[in-house]
Amino acid sequence: MAGDSHFYVWLGADVRDNFQPLPDFIMMMRAFQEFTPRNLITLRNQRGYGTQKNWMWVRQELLHYVHGTPSFTVTYTDIPKILRGYYKTVNGKKTENIERSRSDNIRPGNVWVDIQQVFYRMEENVPGCYAQKPLKAIERILLTSSLEGDVVLDCFAHSGTTLLAGERLNRRVVTFDLDPVFAELTIRRLDNYRATGKTGWQWHNPFPEMEEVYDSTATA
Ligand SMILES: C[S@@+](CC[C@H](N)C(=O)[O-])C[C@H]1O[C@@H](n2cnc3c(N)ncnc32)[C@H](O)[C@@H]1O
Repeated sequence: MAGDSHFYVWLGADVRDNFQPLPDFIMMMRAFQEFTPRNLITLRNQRGYGTQKNWMWVRQELLHYVHGTPSFTVTYTDIPKILRGYYKTVNGKKTENIERSRSDNIRPGNVWVDIQQVFYRMEENVPGCYAQKPLKAIERILLTSSLEGDVVLDCFAHSGTTLLAGERLNRRVVTFDLDPVFAELTIRRLDNYRATGKTGWQWHNPFPEMEEVYDSTATA
């Protein structure tokens, strides 16, 4: 890794497997003295699992380390509706903190509640991707933790969100995926964005040529 850089690791904590891989990964990172822990971000999903016999699991974890002393650019976000409270009576009227605020924006904290999970009705949806990350989340990371022209590495391309975010924010992205289908999808997603301005396919098939193959085998 370059001298001054940020390192983000997005991973799950599976309660059915002793919260792995999160704890083992945190322990492993202690061996890499050149990385300093910077934050532990939690994303709040809108949908979860475990509603019948457990608290619904609606979180994803994002570990943030730094190497050296990289810059950090403050960004702002709309005040999420979920953030209510700090009631105070002003001129005889009970108001909450959002009403009293002079600004419509706040700096995101380390619990992100304002990012919509990707699902099939959203333009950015890439059908077939089981772990697609929201563009807004990756763009937030790129905006805070890199500058225009910087190189961004994502070793797990999947739906190609990082490549697309880099295209939109003028970062040079290096990315790859073990699975050639996801590598191809990543390339197609960028091509599709350049051709149409669309960030994904919503529910349309990114591999339309495969439909013709299926159709011809079905009628054969
Ligand atoms: C959780 S997804 C990444 C999601 C991605 N950030 C996005 O926004 O779409 C993980 C991806 O890593 C790929 N992968 C798993 N092991 C890998 C390896 N050793 N090298 C490269 N890619 C790998 C999988 O094929 C999968 O597409």
